Amino acid sequence: MSKVIFITGSSSGLGLELVKAALSQGHRVAATLRQPKDFPQSLLTEHADSLKTFPLDVTNKDQVDSALKATVEAFGKIDIIVNNAGWTVMGEFETMPEDLARKQFETVFWGTINVLKESIPLLRKQGGGKIVTVSSMVGLGGGLPLLSFFAAAKSGVEAVIDSVQAEMSPDWNIELRVVEPGGFKTEAMNKAGFVPPVAPYNAPDHPMTHFRNSFAGGTLGDASKAAQTILKFSSLEASPDVAKPARLVIGQDGIGYVDARLDGLKKQLAAWKDLAAEAS
Ligand SMILES: NC(=O)c1ccc[n+]([C@@H]2O[C@H](COP(=O)([O-])OP(=O)(O)OC[C@H]3O[C@@H](n4cnc5c(N)ncnc54)[C@H](OP(=O)(O)O)[C@@H]3O)[C@@H](O)[C@H]2O)c1
Repeated sequence: MSKVIFITGSSSGLGLELVKAALSQGHRVAATLRQPKDFPQSLLTEHADSLKTFPLDVTNKDQVDSALKATVEAFGKIDIIVNNAGWTVMGEFETMPEDLARKQFETVFWGTINVLKESIPLLRKQGGGKIVTVSSMVGLGGGLPLLSFFAAAKSGVEAVIDSVQAEMSPDWNIELRVVEPGGFKTEAMNKAGFVPPVAPYNAPDHPMTHFRNSFAGGTLGDASKAAQTILKFSSLEASPDVAKPARLVIGQDGIGYVDARLDGLKKQLAAWKDLAAEAS
């Protein structure tokens, strides 16, 4: 059945691929982006009835409100809100300038929270819907070198979502879902901020020098396939017969990362259980 899907960060990468995937399946799409004039005109021409673009910088709460309202005016409702917009800053924690660290939180944490906060009353009023947040494999904790503030912002978002889901009455029929991609080829690295390594992190035998080299040469997954998977997951209807579709790790690297993370946590819990119990 045709759904109305609202997507943030539609100018490139997973957001743009999601727009294309949703249109190809006959859905109606509100593609939101900071600069609508940059959106591919060919898509607008081809899908004149089912595609609208709206300006949205997710750090601007008024724009979040306006874009959601404009979508309801255009299509009558919103079935799925994909909270996708994001930006990355990379660099060692110790040398990360505070303004870049704060910008990371402004976009990934507060931007995502702004959309979540405005979406909940809208979905409650219309009788339900889904909010799908594009987090990251590092959103479940575990971290990654060079990405301390990105990981912190994504983990913070996930912590909020888990808490908010527990606050909602089931009869509101609002589902919060999270997708956690591993590495996919998008514009993310071209748009990212990079803080160059300085001493002592740039010594030839420092582990970070090896990490930076291996990171640059790493292989990335196909963004259009990731978008298809996100769309499929977003469209699943909850059923008592299967696990609730609340979280989806995407890509083999993501699965490996999260497996190792859970395994590591379990081992730590088991290793220090007796010491932990002494406190009770
Ligand atoms: N690619 C990966 O490997 C990967 C892995 C884990 C998680 N993710 C997550 O996936 C999501 C999509 O990223 P991507 O990989 O597709 O990267 P991308 O190609 O850089 O796309 C990011 C999108 O977010 C938009 N954006 C940035 N700041 C914004 C703001 N303040 N308001 C509104 N839009 C804003 C960008 O728009 P502009 O054109 O205006 O900059 C762009 O459309 C992000 O949340 C990212 O953290 C990606």
